[in-house]
Amino acid sequence: MTTDKAGRVAGQTAFVTGAASGIGRAIAERLADEGARVVLADVSVEAGEALAAKLRGESRTAMFERLDVTREDEWQRAIASVVATFGGLDILVNCAGVAAGGQELLQHDFATWRRTLAINLDGVFLGLRHGGAAIVAKGGGSIINISSVASRAAVVRGAAYCASKAGVAQLTKVAALEWAPLGVRVNSVHPGYVETPLVAELMRQAPDSEAMHAAAIARHPLGRLGLPHEIANAVLFFASDEASFATGAELIVDGGYALP
Ligand SMILES: NC(=O)c1ccc[n+]([C@@H]2O[C@H](COP(=O)([O-])OP(=O)(O)OC[C@H]3O[C@@H](n4cnc5c(N)ncnc54)[C@H](O)[C@@H]3O)[C@@H](O)[C@H]2O)c1
Repeated sequence: MTTDKAGRVAGQTAFVTGAASGIGRAIAERLADEGARVVLADVSVEAGEALAAKLRGESRTAMFERLDVTREDEWQRAIASVVATFGGLDILVNCAGVAAGGQELLQHDFATWRRTLAINLDGVFLGLRHGGAAIVAKGGGSIINISSVASRAAVVRGAAYCASKAGVAQLTKVAALEWAPLGVRVNSVHPGYVETPLVAELMRQAPDSEAMHAAAIARHPLGRLGLPHEIANAVLFFASDEASFATGAELIVDGGYALP
C-alpha cells in the first residue's frame, strides 16, 4: 500500500541513479520522506529491490529499475517504464558513479579511463538525454547531477575521476542554459569525502588504510568526513521549489575541503 505524502517534493516523481548504496540511497530515502514517488535505478539489483521494498513498507511510493547508466537502450527502457507507470518525470538525480582503480598517468590504462568516464560522465549525458527529455516533455522540473570537489581540486591518481567530475559540472551548465526556457532547472552538488561504501573501498585499496582515513579527515576543516544524508539535504533543496531561481549552480558540500 502506497500513498502520496505531504512534503517538500510531494506528488512529484523522482528518478535516482546509484540509489542502491551510499549517497544515492540517502537521496532516494530523503525524497521519499518528502513525499516524492521514487524510482531507484542501479545495477545492484538485490540492494535496490530491498530498499524499494523497505520504502514501500514505510508507506512510501517506490519502485526499482535495473539500469546500467552507460547503456542507452537501458535508459530508454527505464524512462519509458517510469512514464508509463507514473505519467511522467519531475526530478532526476544522476548519482551513479565510481572512483576505484585510480592510477598515476604514466601507468594509466585506457580501459580504466574509459570505464570511469563511461559511468561518471556518459551516464550523466544519457540521463540528461533520456530522463531530461521526459522532464522537458512534462513541461518542467529539476535535475541534480552529483559531481565532486574533485571537479576543481586535483587529486594524485585522480585523472579519470577528476576529469569525469569536471565534465559533469560543465555539462550541468550547458543543460541549465539550454533548458532554462523550458522550465527545467539543472544544478550540481559537489561533495567532499563522504562515509560510503565507495570511500570505504578507496581506503581498503590504500597501502595504509588508517593513515589514508586520518589524512582524509585532516583535509576537511570541519574535522570529519561527510555523511550521506548531508548530501541528500542539498539535493532536496535543488529538487524543491525552494530553489526555484537556482539553475546552473554548483553547491559545494565538503566540510571546507575546497577552501584552502
Ligand atoms: N563518497 C564520496 O566521498 C563522494 C564524494 C564526492 C562525490 N561522490 C559521488 O557520489 C556518487 C555516489 O557515490 P557513493 O559514495 O554513494 O558510492 P557507492 O559506491 O556507495 O554507490 C554508488 C552506486 O552507483 C551504482 N553504480 C555503479 N556503476 C553503475 C552503473 N554503471 N549503472 C548504474 N549504477 C551504477 C553502484 O551499484 C552503487 O549502488 C558518485 O557519483 C560519486 O562519484 C562521492
